Amino acid sequence: MPVPDRLLPVAMFDSGVGGLTVLHECLVSLPEEDFVYFGDTARFPYGDRTPEELRSFALEVSDLLLAEGVKLLVVACNSATAAALPALRERLADRLGVVGVVRPESRLAARATANGQVGLLATPATVASGAYAREVAAVAPEVSLTQVPCPDLATLIQRDGEIDQELVDDVELSCRPLTDAGVDTVILGCTHYGLIRPLLQRTLGRGVAIVSSGQAMAGEVEGELAARGLETAGGGGRGAYRFLCSGDPERFRVLGTRFLQLPLGSVERVAVSEAGRRPAGAVA
Ligand code: DGL
Repeated sequence: MPVPDRLLPVAMFDSGVGGLTVLHECLVSLPEEDFVYFGDTARFPYGDRTPEELRSFALEVSDLLLAEGVKLLVVACNSATAAALPALRERLADRLGVVGVVRPESRLAARATANGQVGLLATPATVASGAYAREVAAVAPEVSLTQVPCPDLATLIQRDGEIDQELVDDVELSCRPLTDAGVDTVILGCTHYGLIRPLLQRTLGRGVAIVSSGQAMAGEVEGELAARGLETAGGGGRGAYRFLCSGDPERFRVLGTRFLQLPLGSVERVAVSEAGRRPAGAVA
């Protein structure tokens, strides 16, 4: 007998472990839902990829997750959202709702700013896509957006999960243009940055509001499930979580357990196409 749609898990994907910041907020807000999370660690990082590469990765990953039997696709990765959300929505139109991170964060930032000066920290791919500039202009045309591409930040965060001086220096360099522009709100336009939120807050100063994809997405996922009549029947229990990755599962398990502060259990490796794989021994 087929499983009713509302009992299926919510699928979420990212280039690595950074999307666990989005999963965390969803677990807090929707504890009864089941989730299946995929980290494309064999092809991490996504932030220096072309739009074409990102679209092909995202479409491949969505097929893989659809085959797991899921009721909603959450694109937790900002670079993938920025490049591939329309293509994913078109491909999955009659089968699955797709939620991405750019619009919810832009809306939250527009609400948070008092002086109309908003900053964005994101990967080069996300900044180059212009996705945040378009969304912020659509929701709040009066807001000025200062964008800073951060080529190394996600890799430094994921490298070994430690805070070292190289990471601190990179954060200071990345935040300087935002401080110079007098922003009062900063969008963390990359999943990984939420993992170093205290460091970013200290660097930006206490007067600056930080908007992260995790906090923006939980409400979005909840709203999308409700709009589609797909909330789990509930019953007060805790949902089940599964973790898949394309790289080394043990490495994902160790790093993910630390970042999510939840034992991940066994992590399953799934194969992705050879194209775009990073050499063995690369960061993820
Ligand atoms: N998930 C990616 C993003 O949010 C992390 C950075 C990367 O893979 O380069 O853009």
